[in-house]
Amino acid sequence: MTSVRSIVTGTGSYLPERIMTNEDLSKVVETTDDWITERTGIKSRHIAAEGELTSDLALHAARAAIADAGIDVQEIDTIIMATTTPDNTFPATATTVQSGLGLGHGAAFDIQAVCSGFVYALTIADTFIRAGQSKTALVIGAETFSRLLDWTDRTTCVLFGDGAGAMVVQAGEGDGTNADRGILTAHLHSDGRLKDKLYVDGGPSSTGTVGHVRMEGREVFRHAVVNIAEAISESLEATGLGVDDIDWFVPHQANKRILDSTAKRIGLPPEKVVMTVADHGNTSAASVPLAFDAALKDGRIKKGDLVLLEAMGGGFTWGSLLLRY
Ligand code: ACO
Repeated sequence: MTSVRSIVTGTGSYLPERIMTNEDLSKVVETTDDWITERTGIKSRHIAAEGELTSDLALHAARAAIADAGIDVQEIDTIIMATTTPDNTFPATATTVQSGLGLGHGAAFDIQAVCSGFVYALTIADTFIRAGQSKTALVIGAETFSRLLDWTDRTTCVLFGDGAGAMVVQAGEGDGTNADRGILTAHLHSDGRLKDKLYVDGGPSSTGTVGHVRMEGREVFRHAVVNIAEAISESLEATGLGVDDIDWFVPHQANKRILDSTAKRIGLPPEKVVMTVADHGNTSAASVPLAFDAALKDGRIKKGDLVLLEAMGGGFTWGSLLLRY
C-alpha cells in the first residue's frame, strides 16, 4: 500500500562568526573552563553580532538548505520556524524569512516549544504533508538565545549559544514500511505543571519586557533524562524498530552529561551519538538541525540511514522522531 512520506531533501545551518570560549566567559562571570567542561561538555559557543537578528541567522540556514535540496525556492509552500527569540513579538519571524526568500505565497508561521521547537516544527510539517496541506515545507530552528541571558547569572549564561539550522521536507511516496525514506513516526509531549522549572521572567503580557532565562538546573537534568528516554521508547515501539536499528542519534544538544546518560539508559553506543554541544553550547531550537547538518556534511549520516531525533525544553516540552534519511 502506498503512503505519503515527508522526506528530508536538503539541510543547511549557520553559526554567527563570533566565538565565545569558556575562557572568555570566565572574564564575565565567576566561572572556569574546568567547571563548565566537566558539568556540561561545552567549550565554546557562537554569539550573534550586534544587529544580527534571528531572521538573519535563519535566512542563511534556509538558503543553504534550499541549495542543498536543489529546488526552486518558489516550490516552498510552508515555512515553519521554531524560535524562542523572534525578531519582534509579531509578526512571526517566519514571515520575515519568507520575505527574505522573495516568497509571497503559502503559509509562514512560528512555533514556540523552546528547546523542543525543532522536533515540534518537523512533526507539524510531517502532519501537514501527510494531510495534503503542504508539498514542500521549509522547517527552521533559529535562535539568538544570548539575548535572553542574564550575563551576571553563571548558572545559566554559560550554557547557551546562538545559531540556526534548516531542513527542506518534501512529500514523497513510500510503501508504508520502515524501509521508506522520510519521517516514520513522531511523538510530542508537554507538562505545563513544570513550567516554572525553566522559564523567562518577562514577556509582552506580563512585564512588557523581554526578560531573562531562569532555571532549576538539577530538576531540568532529572526530568530530561527520564522524559527523553520515554519518548524514544515510544518511537521505537510505534515502529517496531529496536535500538540496534538506529544508525545515528541526533539529540538536542543541552549538555553532554544529559546525552551520555540518555544514550546509556536506552543502550545506544556513544559512537552513534552526534554531539556538537562542545562547540555550539545549547542553541535551543537550532541545536537539532545544526547537529543533523554537521553529521550529514561530514559524511556520517548517509542516504537510507535511520536517524533518531529528540529534544526537551521549557514547558516542559519534549518529543522524539524517527526518520530515514
Ligand atoms: N561556574 C562555576 N560554578 C558554578 C557555575 C559556573 N558556571 N554555576 C554554578 N556553579 C556552582 C554553584 O553555585 C554551586 O556552588 P555551591 O556548591 O557553592 O552552592 C555548584 O556550582 C553546584 O551547582 P549545581 O547547580 O548544583 O551544579 P550541577 O552539578 O547541578 O550543574 C548544571 C549545574 C550544569 C546547570 C546542571 O544542573 C545541568 O546540566 N542541568 C541541566 C540544565 C540544562 O541543560 N538546561 C538547558 C535548557 S533545558 C534543555 O535544553 C534540556
